[in-house]
Amino acid sequence: MNHYFTNNDNLKSERRIIKYNYGSSCFDFISDNGVFSKNKIDYGSSLLVTTYLQNKKNITNFLDVGCSYGFISIILSKELNVSGEGIDINKRALKLATENAKLNNVSVSFKESDIYNNVDASYDLIITNPPIRAGKKVVMEILKEGLKYLNHDGELWAVIRKDQGAKSIIQELEKLTPVTIAAKSKGFYIFFLKKN
Ligand SMILES: C[S@@+](CC[C@H](N)C(=O)[O-])C[C@H]1O[C@@H](n2cnc3c(N)ncnc32)[C@H](O)[C@@H]1O
Repeated sequence: MNHYFTNNDNLKSERRIIKYNYGSSCFDFISDNGVFSKNKIDYGSSLLVTTYLQNKKNITNFLDVGCSYGFISIILSKELNVSGEGIDINKRALKLATENAKLNNVSVSFKESDIYNNVDASYDLIITNPPIRAGKKVVMEILKEGLKYLNHDGELWAVIRKDQGAKSIIQELEKLTPVTIAAKSKGFYIFFLKKN
């Protein structure tokens, strides 16, 4: 079965452009078969990035975990005027993300990494719409291990749907570190963790 995170070189390419507006900024994203939310921007990702921008801090860098074609990181980089990085295991998505950063004129670099195995820097912000379909173990590792890659006062922001176990995931994270729910909309929870 092909998931949005399965690399499949034989999958026919059918590139398309998705348009997205934030305030007075207009963004174009090239998308293709075999990537998450290939036809439209995901509601949860949009809610995550807009909620973060409403609560933004002064940050000097960020990491987008499971970046796909770069939606979250490209908006953040443009709106905060800051460089960032994105990681994913989907090679086609990473190629698109690199093209999309150029297309939208932002400074974000993208690389392959299975969760944090290819990450060695630390960040003021880690942000993620985690791959629920990859299973709870992967999701919890992205959220828990992410704390190790945060700078002092750094925050890890995430979106998870209520019917995907948001409440129990938040309860589990609260055993480790403070969790704040920043928004709830249409069954999506936006929350962030701070380094304890
Ligand atoms: C829910 S999608 C979010 C995509 C994008 N950030 C967005 O908001 O449109 C989750 C992403 O995580 C990626 N992913 C799955 N397993 C991963 C892993 N082990 N390490 C890194 N990324 C992974 C998938 O390929 C997918 O692009």
